[in-house]
Amino acid sequence: MTADRGADGEDDPAPPVVLKLGGSLITEKSRPETLDEDALDAACDAIAAALAEGTVDRLVVVHGGGSFGHHHASEHGVSTSAGTHDPAAVMDVHTAMTALNRAVLDRLHDRDVPAVPVHPLSLSARPDGAEGDLDLPLSSTATMLEEGFVPVLHGDGVATADAGVTVVSGDELVVELAAGLGARRVGVCSTVSGVLDVDGDVIPAIDSFDAVAEALGASDATDVSGGMAAKVRELLALDAPAYVFGAAGLESFLRGEAAGTRID
Ligand code: IPE
Repeated sequence: MTADRGADGEDDPAPPVVLKLGGSLITEKSRPETLDEDALDAACDAIAAALAEGTVDRLVVVHGGGSFGHHHASEHGVSTSAGTHDPAAVMDVHTAMTALNRAVLDRLHDRDVPAVPVHPLSLSARPDGAEGDLDLPLSSTATMLEEGFVPVLHGDGVATADAGVTVVSGDELVVELAAGLGARRVGVCSTVSGVLDVDGDVIPAIDSFDAVAEALGASDATDVSGGMAAKVRELLALDAPAYVFGAAGLESFLRGEAAGTRID
């Protein structure tokens, strides 16, 4: 894959691919702080292969919380809208999420993927204190990309005006990264094979929320950040095409092919 060229022949940074690995995919969501080792290994294999083969040249990975983040967040009553001023609560969520982040990084390093962590708690804020409001400076992530690294972000706590610390979901991070870095494609890989209609079939393409609103219910496991409906709303707002798919779709997505539900 060659970098995009500007009109004057200068190298422009190639638009990255932004990939979220859902917490439900890489952890056992119903058992606190437990990895789904097989699923995480398979996802890391697919990422390493795509980078080695050059079907993806610039990649940002975001992972969700699964059984590392959500249990702590809900225990402390913290969500994307409800905050805490208790440092022990902040540390419980952040420590669990950085442990998961480390587990993801270790497996990527085992496969020679030049992955480096980016911890949103240290970087981002909700200066207006509102859900959906997120200030995520992208200079470090963009520079890491230009220097050949694969930044790996994660759902985390986020400093929030008048609320203390709330949760920032991986989906919010994906949206900010995709918009701010001008992503080429966005992928959200989870345990479902796409966005499902009322009969449980994958909806191939979504271009408006109203058309699918009825089919989108809440996540059935503990999920402090909104489930599929919130994901679809956020992904619809992006310029880049987004795909929601299951583990079986990851290789196709990374090859630049269709996977699961296309949202744009
Ligand atoms: C939640 O992130 C992060 C925390 C609870 C700290 P996500 O909402 O993106 O996580 P998953 O993918 O649904 O598990």
